[in-house]
Amino acid sequence: MSRQFFVSGNFKMNPISRAQKKIIINELNAADLDSNTEVVTVTIPPSPEGYRAYTGEISPAQLADAGVPYVILGNAHLPNHAAPFNTTSKPKLALDGSLPVILCVGEPLQEREAGQTTRAVEKELRALVTVLNESDGIVIAYEPVWAIGTGKVAITAQAQGVHAYIRQYLSTAISTTVSDNTRIIYGGSVTASNCKEFSSQIDVDRFLVGGASLKPEFVDIINVRRN
Ligand code: PGA
Repeated sequence: MSRQFFVSGNFKMNPISRAQKKIIINELNAADLDSNTEVVTVTIPPSPEGYRAYTGEISPAQLADAGVPYVILGNAHLPNHAAPFNTTSKPKLALDGSLPVILCVGEPLQEREAGQTTRAVEKELRALVTVLNESDGIVIAYEPVWAIGTGKVAITAQAQGVHAYIRQYLSTAISTTVSDNTRIIYGGSVTASNCKEFSSQIDVDRFLVGGASLKPEFVDIINVRRN
């Protein structure tokens, strides 16, 4: 398999001070991290409008110029998460502006319980595949909405099933090259103690980590292959 593993911290509005953020970043910089894993920390979603003279928004071009490595779109912890621009216009704007994207997809509990998981995920992917080019290198994060920040974790077989479904969908809707090359990562209450089991699944190319990315255990999650 040629895909490089990918682990992203999702700091959200944490930590509260620059001093605390520095401690976390210094610890990460000092740690011996698996060189086969791409590691990023990202928090900022761009404006849904591209460039406009809007107060309080930031454009994809500004983020790209600032060297932001990835933007997270579609995350269930975004304000207006359900608004269609989060999975439709924002990915296109970001990709057009050469801003790499982590797109989160995942079902709410009701849909999981009604057996509608893949339908919900496919609905979110449909807009993406119309704007994605072979060279875009998007990362897709499968994040069941009911597992984010709740301490509830999908069982590994559930996650592998949805990841395999997403890969199959990309293959049919775009190409086998995109399907083979796209990193599909899992998010939702990932910790140092549950990450090993997920990482044994063939289509789980590692993690999007919220709460645990602020703790020393983030290093163990990044280095899961070695532990
Ligand atoms: P969590 O957050 O790891 O705290 O569940 C994941 C996310 O929101 O991306």
